[in-house]
Amino acid sequence: MNKKIETAGGKLGILLPGMGAVATTFITGVLAVRKNIASPIGSLTQMGTIRLGKRPEERNPKIKDFIPLADIKNIVFGGWDIYEDNAYEAAYKAGVLEKTLLNQLKDELSTIKPMPAVFSNDYVKNISGPNVKKASNKMELANELIKDIEKFKKENNCDRLVIVWCASTEKYIQRCEVHENIESFRKGMLENHPAISPSMIYAYAALQLGIPFANGAPNLTCDIPALVSLSKINKTPIAGKDFKTGQTLMKTIVAPGLKARAIGIDGWFSTNILGNRDGEVLDDPESFKTKEVSKLSVLGSILEPEKHPDLYDDVYHKIRINYYPPRGDNKESWDNIDIFGWLGYKMQIKINFLCRDSILAAPVVLDLALFMDLAKRAGMSGIQEWLSFYFKSPQAGEGLTPQHDLFKQLMKLENTLRYLQGEDLITHLGLDYYEEIVNR
Ligand SMILES: NC(=O)c1ccc[n+]([C@@H]2O[C@H](COP(=O)([O-])OP(=O)(O)OC[C@H]3O[C@@H](n4cnc5c(N)ncnc54)[C@H](O)[C@@H]3O)[C@@H](O)[C@H]2O)c1
Repeated sequence: MNKKIETAGGKLGILLPGMGAVATTFITGVLAVRKNIASPIGSLTQMGTIRLGKRPEERNPKIKDFIPLADIKNIVFGGWDIYEDNAYEAAYKAGVLEKTLLNQLKDELSTIKPMPAVFSNDYVKNISGPNVKKASNKMELANELIKDIEKFKKENNCDRLVIVWCASTEKYIQRCEVHENIESFRKGMLENHPAISPSMIYAYAALQLGIPFANGAPNLTCDIPALVSLSKINKTPIAGKDFKTGQTLMKTIVAPGLKARAIGIDGWFSTNILGNRDGEVLDDPESFKTKEVSKLSVLGSILEPEKHPDLYDDVYHKIRINYYPPRGDNKESWDNIDIFGWLGYKMQIKINFLCRDSILAAPVVLDLALFMDLAKRAGMSGIQEWLSFYFKSPQAGEGLTPQHDLFKQLMKLENTLRYLQGEDLITHLGLDYYEEIVNR
């Protein structure tokens, strides 16, 4: 039985708080793909296939042909930033993409202008800009955002919207009583409670309007009971936190492999240099703390030391991020993994990844936007754990441990799509296989 999914017709507006390196690399990429001057490499929704049924059936359609996703031809872009640069100027300054590509798309990119942001240096220290809203309290700021969103929808003739947070990492905020329910949260907004950050105000505005909200940074944002409950009340999907790219992506590829072969780990040291604006923001210890917590959470849940104390009881996990301007967006990361094998003999693995952060993040933004729109049309609401595949620090239901293993995350994502389209789930543990081998 297929789940009823509303059609993906009409225009989808993708709104991005934060129009920096990731957002402009994403927008430029979609425009380039639309003009057939580039390929959407790294995007599961555009290039991935999905196996259906039993292997001999050989049914492996493209995901976008299997499930009704918005067509990238029908996307319009908007967003907010503290700087007034349009998407062309911002992409140019971010220095990720070649000027020749940007110039080919200059006309379209130049029309995408950021709306004034909800921003405060109390939450992000190392940057400041002129394009910022002023209001007497946080509720008024949310109402300003709501007006922006409604205006954008009308002016651009959008049928549906999604919001993906691509703005800077905010300082670390501990969950507290103001986050506990929607009443305390609304009261806190009126009283300018310091534990309500700008990203929470954007998320609140989105959820008030029933617009799916995904969080690409490690900030708490919608990972609080007040906004989880609002997402359920307004039947709206939410997801987060922190796009899984670069070094952490590698970690969640390598760690499950070592664990699968019962190889022990003594220590995992990760360091990197990057020189983009994100790196500058993370140079502030308070923003770095948010990122560090997100990156550190990965290993514990993959290795499950409580179940395997002989192998992973005391893994020394260290993470460093070093702001180094000459590198720009072309981050270089080093991992040193101290492992041990048969009879406790020690070995080492070194990974040196010369990556491009925004090139890895852009397809994640696209997939999240399209899948969140799908989820909304399929009547799904609350935390979308099946999208954990895309996050470093996946948001999970109260009391549940997030799943970090990339391969388990992929299985969950694919099975969700199969379920929505009424196909058999594939767990790679088919009963018929065992019946056949024991009865041979
Ligand atoms: N690039 C990656 O691989 C990757 C991976 C995981 C997470 N992230 C996160 O994605 C976010 C964006 O990364 P980036 O490299 O594009 O950074 P960036 O610094 O180039 O862009 C962020 C933009 O957000 C703007 N901004 C900050 N606060 C804002 C606010 N309250 N409202 C509106 N705009 C605001 C800044 O002015 C800036 O232009 C960061 O939080 C980063 O940590 C990136």
